[in-house]
Amino acid sequence: MSVSVSRKKSRTTKRVKPNDFGSFHSFLAKFIIFLLVFIYIWSSTSTIFSGNMVHVCVSSRKLNNQYCLSAGTRPDFPIPIPHINDTSTFVAEEREHGVNVKDTIDFAGNFDNKSLNNTSEVAFREVEKLIQTQRSWVVPKHSNHTTTCEGKGIYVYDLPSKFNKDLLSQCNEMIPWHNFCKYLSNGAMGELIQKLGSRWYNTHQYSLEVIFHSRILKHPCRVYNQNEAKLFYVPYYGGLDILRWHFKDNVSNDVKDSLGLDLIRWLESQSPWYKNLGKDHVFVLGKISWDFRRYDKSSWGTRLLELDEMYNPIKLLIERQPWHVNDIGIPHPTYFHPQTDADIVTWQLKIMKSNRKSLVSFAGAARPDSSESIRSLLIEQCSSGGKFLNCSTGQCHEPDTVIELFLESEFCLQPPGDSPTRKSVFDSLISGCIPVFFDPFTAYYQYPWHLPEDREKYSVFIDKEEVRNKSTNVVERLMKISAKERENMRRYIVYELLPGLVYGDLNSKFEKFQDAFSLTINNLLERVNRLNEL
Ligand SMILES: *[C@@H]1O[C@H](CO)[C@@H](O)[C@H](O)[C@H]1NC(C)=O
Ligand SMILES: *[C@@H]1O[C@H](CO)[C@@H](O)[C@H](O)[C@H]1NC(C)=O
Ligand SMILES: *[C@@H]1O[C@H](CO)[C@@H](O)[C@H](O)[C@H]1NC(C)=O
Ligand SMILES: *[C@@H]1O[C@H](CO)[C@@H](O)[C@H](O)[C@H]1NC(C)=O
Ligand SMILES: *[C@@H]1O[C@H](CO)[C@@H](O)[C@H](O)[C@H]1NC(C)=O
Ligand SMILES: *[C@@H]1O[C@H](CO)[C@@H](O)[C@H](O)[C@H]1NC(C)=O
Ligand SMILES: *[C@@H]1O[C@H](CO)[C@@H](O)[C@H](O)[C@H]1NC(C)=O
Ligand SMILES: *[C@@H]1O[C@H](CO)[C@@H](O)[C@H](O)[C@H]1NC(C)=O
Repeated sequence: MSVSVSRKKSRTTKRVKPNDFGSFHSFLAKFIIFLLVFIYIWSSTSTIFSGNMVHVCVSSRKLNNQYCLSAGTRPDFPIPIPHINDTSTFVAEEREHGVNVKDTIDFAGNFDNKSLNNTSEVAFREVEKLIQTQRSWVVPKHSNHTTTCEGKGIYVYDLPSKFNKDLLSQCNEMIPWHNFCKYLSNGAMGELIQKLGSRWYNTHQYSLEVIFHSRILKHPCRVYNQNEAKLFYVPYYGGLDILRWHFKDNVSNDVKDSLGLDLIRWLESQSPWYKNLGKDHVFVLGKISWDFRRYDKSSWGTRLLELDEMYNPIKLLIERQPWHVNDIGIPHPTYFHPQTDADIVTWQLKIMKSNRKSLVSFAGAARPDSSESIRSLLIEQCSSGGKFLNCSTGQCHEPDTVIELFLESEFCLQPPGDSPTRKSVFDSLISGCIPVFFDPFTAYYQYPWHLPEDREKYSVFIDKEEVRNKSTNVVERLMKISAKERENMRRYIVYELLPGLVYGDLNSKFEKFQDAFSLTINNLLERVNRLNEL
């Protein structure tokens, strides 16, 4: 199996990949199952089975019309992606999330459809298995082989500027309703937030690829000779590449895909790309995986991660495609970028001492047009016994307002939005507010390197179905959790997790802690060291 399969844009239908699925047929069978489950997760659907073919019709809040997808012959993974036409939807989104433009797929589906019980079980088991595989690459916490660069060289490609720097210079045109450029200041950490202190910046959730690039250039294990390298870092700003097309109607799919295809052609001129079939190459893409997995009939995003050549490399993303073992979720960037151990310790002490006046809080907006959304129910329950920050009014624009709310709350509700993950999850964790999840895809199946397997140590799970059928009142349920239990969870979050959830600033130097960046790099190195085992 070669990574340089085809340079043509039209691809053969038969793609056999060196993956976990065994034979092509069993892969195909699983694919169909997954397709169904996905479609159920992400939208309201109707399904028609006819022989070997599956037709799934999708309608969602952001789709102007119903799409019918067919599968059965192609092992491509199609997902329903909205045609973007109504920018007002996105203005509303943008308001809701403050600086955080959540913009893809409606996550309002019903996973627990009883007629699909078995199918979802199979899919759940598979995702559990893959996340375990990813956890097996975690370097043991107190292992000493993290202290030397012996055999751990990192080579950073010097890409032509069109793949990264030139994209930065288009920042003023990326999002029609506001200027993205301010988020790129301070090494893409954004502008300083005076109110919160000297290590706080207004960081955009899509900035991670730029932040990572700056950090990796300064990594002590960086090497300049490809022969000394174990890991190859490809500093392509794929998220920004997509972002510049997202909100323009008149751009063809060919145009959207072209830079990614150029990049693959460029990599094909590099000998390391072939040595391990791309498996020792890593990309950091600062958007969600679905944005790079466009379905043929859609116009949303690119097809970059659907290309054969992109299967083997490791992709680090703020939201992974749960059934792809080489998609690895890493924390959304928060507003806090410490520089020293002392910065972290100071913050830990502050949040442990914080006076948490509210039991529950929720910062978000209702989804009145989505019948599946549990948000309205949560808002209703929250307003009696909790605190609701209405993001529809623009209150969430200011990071300090959100952080202050989380500092004053014991629990923070984290229902899925347009896609399962939320930046808010990380903002709440670093504020010592215990997250309450309603869907396992929001965190448990996303971040194997940064969040532990034992979910009860740091979060509460309430099945969204129980909220929907009103068999559980969230506030009442949380009231039953004792002060002692809360305290234990909070200590765990603050002392064990927090340092590994924040990205240090460009000059950061930690001795006692590993931040989200170093955890990621250490595990990546472990992973490529064990390539032979795969
Ligand atoms: C946007 O959608 C409306 C109807 O929903 C349609 O009339 C209009 O032509 C669409 N515009 C574009 C540019 O696709
Ligand atoms: C489950 O899916 C079937 C179609 O497969 C549909 O008819 C039914 O309404 C769905 N049930 C729920 C509760 O969504
Ligand atoms: C349910 O899943 C198992 C595999 O876990 C499979 O063997 C069985 O045939 C499935 N049953 C149905 C009715 O699909
Ligand atoms: C779902 O479960 C019911 C009983 O628990 C069973 O009769 C039915 O065949 C199952 N459906 C599938 C698709 O496995
Ligand atoms: C750390 O390294 C030293 C010397 O290289 C070795 O003796 C010791 O056992 C190692 N400790 C662990 C926990 O691996
Ligand atoms: C696309 O539309 C924008 C304005 O929305 C315009 O500036 C640009 O020239 C158009 N591009 C093409 C290729 O038509
Ligand atoms: C949130 O704000 C919007 C816009 O002002 C308003 O329409 C909505 O009713 C508010 N929601 C609640 C629950 O207060
Ligand atoms: C509500 O949903 C939960 C989870 O699916 C289920 O266990 C419970 O029986 C349902 N309760 C009612 C009253 O329907």
